[in-house]
Amino acid sequence: METRRVRLVKKGAEAELWFGYWLGLPSIFKVRREKPYRPAELDRWVRVRRTVTEARLLHEAYLAGLAVPSLYHVDLDKTMIVMEYVEGPTAKELVEGGYKDLEWLFREMGRGIGLLHSRRVVHGDLTTSNVIMRGSKLYFIDFGLGDKNARLEDMGVDLHLFLRALENTHYDVASRAFEWAMEGYAEVVGESQAKAVREKVREIRMRGRHVMERRKRKPFPV
Ligand SMILES: Nc1ncnc2c1ncn2[C@@H]1O[C@H](COP(=O)(O)OP(=O)(O)O)[C@@H](O)[C@H]1O
Ligand SMILES: [Mg+2]
Repeated sequence: METRRVRLVKKGAEAELWFGYWLGLPSIFKVRREKPYRPAELDRWVRVRRTVTEARLLHEAYLAGLAVPSLYHVDLDKTMIVMEYVEGPTAKELVEGGYKDLEWLFREMGRGIGLLHSRRVVHGDLTTSNVIMRGSKLYFIDFGLGDKNARLEDMGVDLHLFLRALENTHYDVASRAFEWAMEGYAEVVGESQAKAVREKVREIRMRGRHVMERRKRKPFPV
């Protein structure tokens, strides 16, 4: 049974992603590489921490009822995880390719986020690149920046970052997409919880605005 990396799929800011085979299974090898500009010890600590977090939260997300790639292997020396290869377009590719049922896509994404938050887990990097559609299921990936034991504030931040990512990547559909996602979210967490988290999102956005306003008045704050 073969175990080998076959081709580099993506070289991101943080990790290299390889397609290959793990004991014969089509897999993704996610390797967090050294960052030469970070002090070596800190760098190693960051990479190990994110690798461990990603492995743990893949499991938490599975327990929450989300579709996630199966985890095949964790190697902390190489700061690498090996997981199931999920074949299909990312949500980003779907939106950019003119996918027709955006309402379903974002509602379903919102339901997934709701399941996660119901278990008090935050994703930490909710973007349309971190969701893959296989068949009629959405798979969530890239949990390295997530956290457990999340509070309301953390969930607000999670959704605030999601909204900001939508505005940056899919400007024309961002606000509709977010509304659909929040409807799916509310179906899972309930109306009152959804309202409380939305209130947080509003609050966090306002804080951001105040900072921007201050920066405008005083371009070089000390
Ligand atoms: N398990 C997987 N199956 C298929 N494709 C994957 C898988 N994991 C990652 N990818 C692809 O690689 C890209 C980057 O992976 P990701 O884990 O999000 O790393 P990054 O931290 O660089 O964003 C994803 O957007 C997706 O296209
Ligand atoms: Mg990603």
